[in-house]
Amino acid sequence: MHGADPRLVLGLHRSRHQRDILSTALDLGVTALDTAAPYLGFRSHAVLAETANDLLPKFTLSTKVGFFPGVGGAEHSLAPDRLRLAIEKAARELGREADTVLLHNPERSLASLSPSDGQALLGSACTALVDAARDGLCRTWGVSSWDTRPLGMVGVDALPSPDVLMVRTGFLVGIDLLDTTAVLCNAWQAGETWGMSPFGGGNGRAWEDFDPRLFLRPPHDGLSRVQAAFRTAFHLPSAAAVAVGTDNPGHLAQLVTALGAEVDTGAVSQYLRALHGRRQR
Ligand SMILES: NC(=O)c1ccc[n+]([C@@H]2O[C@H](COP(=O)([O-])OP(=O)(O)OC[C@H]3O[C@@H](n4cnc5c(N)ncnc54)[C@H](OP(=O)(O)O)[C@@H]3O)[C@@H](O)[C@H]2O)c1
Repeated sequence: MHGADPRLVLGLHRSRHQRDILSTALDLGVTALDTAAPYLGFRSHAVLAETANDLLPKFTLSTKVGFFPGVGGAEHSLAPDRLRLAIEKAARELGREADTVLLHNPERSLASLSPSDGQALLGSACTALVDAARDGLCRTWGVSSWDTRPLGMVGVDALPSPDVLMVRTGFLVGIDLLDTTAVLCNAWQAGETWGMSPFGGGNGRAWEDFDPRLFLRPPHDGLSRVQAAFRTAFHLPSAAAVAVGTDNPGHLAQLVTALGAEVDTGAVSQYLRALHGRRQR
């Protein structure tokens, strides 16, 4: 049994939602779960309540709203009344309120709007989440964005500051997105930044070509390349927590072990300078 470490959030995007990974997580001190209304074909909340009703109170839980079942697949909406109903539905399905509710990829509804229309729509969606927190439907609220670029266009500094801003993290994120995210974090002044998807969903084979253990202090042979890539992701960009997915208890244990390593932030800065330099060439 490990002490709880809130830095690792077990993300359920690709998860089979089986009980064994949830109980292993608790044994390893992983006490944060991240899900979303559309995960597992819009059944994530209900399946969690069915398979792990007794375990759920032991986790801090974040979920996301913004996608809705639609004809031919999920449709996105930031309509405040739909968001409110989705938050209430999530609490009913889960049998408890989520600790944090995040707007799910709001950029999906902003891309075709003018900056002022985008700001108005995003502002009303944020207010719906502020109101949900005020009414006890969640403790904190935030925004989860796969592509922060459209958010950077709408003047977020005039909108309520989220408690949490969840963004892509790690070596697979390009320098343009890292830069846009840095500007957004600065403008929006979220309480905490969380990273997500440090392995880009598991398809990235980048570590076959370079060794991320060079980013650990001291350069570490005791950990694998995957572990080093995960640990370094907390600095690309700087994040208080990282949501990572696995259905494999052994993999989760490896990730928990990696949290004990120290990142060489000087090497990370040098890496970012190199990426900027390459872009200017
Ligand atoms: N827009 C959004 O809001 C958004 C989008 C994407 C993700 N997210 C959040 O971020 C979470 C993670 O994202 P993700 O699942 O897409 O990507 P990810 O965490 O980058 O990758 C998950 C993959 O990494 C593999 N993996 C994990 N630990 C490993 C290890 N120690 N060794 C080898 N492979 C390992 C897993 O395979 P195994 O199962 O075999 O371990 C899985 O296939 C999501 O669940 C969600 O919470 C949010």
